[in-house]
Amino acid sequence: MDITILGIESSCDDTSAAVIRNNVLLSNVIASQAVHVKYGGVIPELASRAHQQNIVPVVDTALREAGVAADKLDAIAFTRGPGLLGSLLVGVSFAKGLSIARNIPMVEVNHLQGHILSHFIDLPDRQLPHPDFPFLCLLVSGGHTQIVRVDSPLEMRIVGTTIDDASGEAFDKCAKAMGLPYPGGPVIDKLAKEGDPKAFRFARPRIDGFDYSFSGLKTSFLYALRDATAADPGFIERRRADLCASLQATIIEILLDKLVRASKEFGITDIAIAGGVSANSGLRDAVAETGRRRGWRTFLPEFKFTTDNAAMIAMSGYYRYKHGDLATLDVAPAARIEQLL
Ligand code: KG4
Ligand code: ZN
Repeated sequence: MDITILGIESSCDDTSAAVIRNNVLLSNVIASQAVHVKYGGVIPELASRAHQQNIVPVVDTALREAGVAADKLDAIAFTRGPGLLGSLLVGVSFAKGLSIARNIPMVEVNHLQGHILSHFIDLPDRQLPHPDFPFLCLLVSGGHTQIVRVDSPLEMRIVGTTIDDASGEAFDKCAKAMGLPYPGGPVIDKLAKEGDPKAFRFARPRIDGFDYSFSGLKTSFLYALRDATAADPGFIERRRADLCASLQATIIEILLDKLVRASKEFGITDIAIAGGVSANSGLRDAVAETGRRRGWRTFLPEFKFTTDNAAMIAMSGYYRYKHGDLATLDVAPAARIEQLL
């Protein structure tokens, strides 16, 4: 029996809706919010308003592109959290409205599990590589940096997590300090290609176990900029590519160090990456190269599944629906991850 799921994602600054049949993607529509660029970061109040404007046309388009009528859906999967509360409220409330109007069950999805389960989506004309269980996933997004041990689509355990900033945040904040536009990650990725990754050396964390820390790196980067700019106001402009390349190389080194250790500790060699930062070309190359050296099977997501999208929410919702995990109408968004795992 086919299972058709509508996914709704509104946790941050992208409004997205997608339709999946079993694990095959039928549509994936994303409305990005340009309004935040001029502020150099996401303004929660503006994000909520833009979601409110976008949600109906985005869902309509996703259903139309999939060729699926709303009353043919088996379930509506929505992101319950983590994310910005006002943004999540729009998606959750919309899911409830549609659920009541069409008498369709709802399924709540943890956004982070969604990122991980994007590795099980297939395209209508192409199967994508899927990891075997158990696998380790390096989850790197704007708000989170974790190593997750995935034993099944519904059983995941956080092995290591950031104790301060996320890797995406390090990209974004350092980019802002260099006067680069938001989001900084893709811009640094591009500029880094022209620079020398060994030009500057920044602080590396010394944290036991599999946890991450990026605030020390960020601080040392910001101090280096401040000191160099005091002596030479044109410093950032002149050395931008080297700064980007060195910063990116340091972030990748920190990420891979713990990932390699976790793989050894658990004896797991199916290694996936997911989340916005998994679009980073340097990180993708480094993971693939480390994998070749260490005999890993590595899984790098398609670019369209790296940053926030509803396809991954529909995919995660599919597994929850099959397992009978339905949400009730009193469900409320949860801004923090601790409430969800
Ligand atoms: O997963 P995501 O879309 O949203 C969250 O759930 O947070 O991740 C957004 C993050 C931002 O910090 C952005 O700068 C980063 O992903 N990002 C990148 C790249 N593309 C997006 N970071 C580095 N290199 C990229 N190419
Ligand atoms: Zn995300």
